[in-house]
This record gives sequence, C-alpha cells and structure tokens, in this order.
Amino acid sequence: AHDVMYIPLPLYHSAASLIGIGGTIELGASCVLKKKFSASQFWTDCRKHNVTVFQYIGELCRYLCNQPKTAGDQVHKVRMGVGNGLRQDVWREFQSRFGNIKMCEVYGSTEGNLCFMNHIGKIGTVGRSNFFYRLLFKYDLVKYDMVKDEAVKDPNGFCQRVEKGETGLLLSKVSALSPFFGYAGSKQLTEKKLMRNVFGKGDAYFNTGDLMAEDRDGFICFKDRVGDTFRWKGENVATTEVTETLGLVDFIQEVNVYGVEVQGHEGRAGMAAVILRAGMAFDGGKLFEHVTRDMPPYARPLFIRLQDVMEMTSTFKQQKFQLVHSGFNPSTTSDPLYVLDYQQQSYIPLTDGIYRSIQAGERKL
Ligand SMILES: *[C@@H]1O[C@H](CO)[C@@H](O)[C@H](O)[C@H]1NC(C)=O
Repeated sequence: AHDVMYIPLPLYHSAASLIGIGGTIELGASCVLKKKFSASQFWTDCRKHNVTVFQYIGELCRYLCNQPKTAGDQVHKVRMGVGNGLRQDVWREFQSRFGNIKMCEVYGSTEGNLCFMNHIGKIGTVGRSNFFYRLLFKYDLVKYDMVKDEAVKDPNGFCQRVEKGETGLLLSKVSALSPFFGYAGSKQLTEKKLMRNVFGKGDAYFNTGDLMAEDRDGFICFKDRVGDTFRWKGENVATTEVTETLGLVDFIQEVNVYGVEVQGHEGRAGMAAVILRAGMAFDGGKLFEHVTRDMPPYARPLFIRLQDVMEMTSTFKQQKFQLVHSGFNPSTTSDPLYVLDYQQQSYIPLTDGIYRSIQAGERKL
C-alpha cells in the first residue's frame, strides 16, 4: 500500500490498465500516470513523486540506458520494475547503472490463457514453472520447423514435445480452467490462434506464437517470436541474438535486425537498421571486425541501413514489416545503405552498381 507506481504506458494495453492501475487499486497504493513516456523526464518524475515501482515494456529500459549518464543516476527510491520484453544485455546494463532494481518480467497476453512471472528476478527468464503451476496451466513446448514455419508433426500428425533445454513453440491447453474466449468479431481470427488435434484427436491449444525454452530447474526463457527467425545459407538466424551482438558496438545506439529477400537466393539475407550514438560516426571497418569476430558467417548482416529514428509500435516494440518491405535498393530509400565487403574488410556504401550486380547474381554474398 505504500508503493507508488509509475505508469508511462498507453492505458489501452492490459499491462498498464490491468497490472498497473488494477494492481494499484487492489493494494490501495498510489499511481502516477504519465501521458507519454519520456526518457529524459523519467528519473526526474520518479524522484519528484517518490516512485517505488515502474512499468516497462519492450525497449523502454534501453531508452533509459541510452540517456547521458548523470551523477544522480542512483538517487531515487525505485525498487522494482514490472513488464516484459527486457533483453538480457539491457537488463544487466540497467541494473549496473541505476542500482539494484529488481526486474520482474511478466509473460502473457490479454487474450492468452496462461502467464508466467519472474518473481525472483533471475536475469533473462520470464518465470519459473513448478509442480503446482503445471496443475493450473497445461502448457507444452513443441518442436518447431523454422523453415516451413510450422510445428513438427509425427507420422500420426501429432506434435512432439521438446527435450528440457530445447527451444519449442509454446502452446497452452484450452480447458474450463484456462479458457480462451477469443476475439470480438470474425470467428476466423479466433480460430487462427487455436491449434487443434495437437497431442490427440479433439484437443485444442492456444498458440502463443512464441518460441521458449525451459531448463532443468524450470526456468522459462523467451527465445524468439515465430517469424523473428529467418534462414540464410541453410542456417537459422535469430534476430534477437544478432541484435544483442550488434548492440555492443560502441557507435551503435539502437539496432533492428530483419531478413530481406534477394533475387536468386534461398531464404533471407540479414539486414540491420541502425541508429548511431549522438556525436559518433559509422565505422564500416570496425563493424566488420566486430561481426566477423563474434558471429558465424550466416548470421552476419549483409546490409546496414542508417536511420535517424526507429519506427516503434505504441508498446515500444520495433517495427519490422515496413523495413522488410522496403528492402535494400539504394534508389528507393534516402537512408544511407552499406554492404558487407570481405575484400575491403569493411561495410562499404551500397551503390546502384553494387545493387545491380547483386540482383544479377554477379556478386558473391
Ligand atoms: C517524498 O518523500 C519525501 C521524504 O520522505 C517527502 O518529504 C515528500 O513530501 C514526498 N513527496 C511526495 C510527492 O509524496
């Protein structure tokens, strides 16, 4: 009841309205509503209102880390953050910079029929399963084929559970105890989120569309969203992993990784939209050195696109669709484009000539 909750998220999402405001009312605590999230005003607000708990989502914590450091970074009363989508690298940086704030990752969706919560704050996990939890929520991780973009089936047409530690598609059984009410409007939308005859005739599961792994101790870790992985040279490229690796380069402030189609090539070539840190310049040689040292050949982004601002959804998730659609043609974008060049050991400007030679299949990728 003595907590003060800071809510900078849109209220039409359940994170802010149910967990934030709902939680505040349930406890008899106080909440501070911010009309629009502002990275530069965040800590000032927290100090002014004696905030103890804040809500985050997606990239919000990264924005806070990207703010200039100040001597007062640890002068506040914030003890906890609640939200989801916090990446491991940001999680570590956030805590070392702003103090020992416990971060509670929550996994779930408004319409979904299960949720996880990381009560103990173990970095990189969304929660922990146990015997009782499994009684309440019948969920399973099943094998998933990244190439076909569908669940792997056995000869009888049923899904197969993954081994402990392996990544699989998270499904949650629909039952009286954990119902799925579906969406208003079209029945098809509701049906699309369901998988039927998963382990036996007549059963139904809610398809989360998320790839997760559970280790021997029951810790559950978010790996990828179905569709956030693409294939290149016969290998799976997890955009989240490439994003984390590129995020370590000193002149890169923010990065969004996706795959683009290249004429005559199977799968998708890696591309990264990048925002540079203020006052720093793009250094193709340095980036080349970094990606060749830290990434296997298939995962290295072939194309880089420099951007001034990154398109975000209202919940601070990166937009990929537009970028994928716009591709790597230098004549249709005004953003500077670069291409990975092994001869010059650098990322070099992607000219119309290079673009044409790629399209003609003359340039080895
Ligand atoms: C915050 O806490 C300080 C010290 O405990 C107190 O003096 C101040 O009135 C509080 N501010 C608000 C907005 O509650």
